[in-house]
Amino acid sequence: MAEIIGKSIIKLTSVDSTNNYATNNMLAEKWYEGTVVVSEEQTKGRGQINNSWESEFGKNLLLSIVLYPKFLPIHNQFLLSKVCALGVCDAIGEYVGNVKIKWPNDIYVGRKKIAGILIENIIMGSSISSSVLGIGLNINQNEFFSDAPNPVSLCQLLGEEISRKLFLDRLLDNIDFWYKRLADNEISVIDDAFLSSLFLLNEVSTFTDNTGTYNGRILGVDEIGRLKIQPKNDDVIRTYHFKEVEYVL
Ligand code: BTN
Repeated sequence: MAEIIGKSIIKLTSVDSTNNYATNNMLAEKWYEGTVVVSEEQTKGRGQINNSWESEFGKNLLLSIVLYPKFLPIHNQFLLSKVCALGVCDAIGEYVGNVKIKWPNDIYVGRKKIAGILIENIIMGSSISSSVLGIGLNINQNEFFSDAPNPVSLCQLLGEEISRKLFLDRLLDNIDFWYKRLADNEISVIDDAFLSSLFLLNEVSTFTDNTGTYNGRILGVDEIGRLKIQPKNDDVIRTYHFKEVEYVL
């Protein structure tokens, strides 16, 4: 049973974006930590880097979780991303195998994307006063129309419709589990779990950066969440911020 996350759930039928709704209302209405906003549809669902997020009405899970991780210094904010990705990954892992976190925080099953995460933090001084964890999970959608590469839903993978209510319960429990590890400062437990869930870890794969395309192995992430890749034909490890490197899959 989740202790922090999901004690209060706001259910909407339609909204521009659950992240916008949470950000615009949580402070004025003094929402409890762990409040969840979930909607049947978003008219302006947002993805990373100004992308949109496609989701058919009533088919998937679109939610935002409000946290107040005031204990977390700004330079550790990638830990929130890890915690959220691990919770999503573990919840999906209760239904299907081969679930991985594609850095920084896409969730993949095999070579297909099943969930995306958009985290928006409000910084006060040197710590994070509030954080909105936005999660889009493909549950029962059977066809995708946007140009997002390789989407997949749980229903497509399992060949049957899934109860979104039961899935949401499992999701909130799993994120709660990992958020408590963070609040208890169990950082190495989080880091180890993240590393062992990392998509393509240690596998020779192809990447493109501003110098061109090359083969290399993902070694992990550094303390601020930058991806570390060891090129095959070069001793110098390359370190990347989000969007500085692309996977060639
Ligand atoms: C991505 O992979 O680009 C991130 C997608 C995040 C989508 C979710 S859906 C709920 C929440 N509200 C939004 O507008 N975006 C996030």
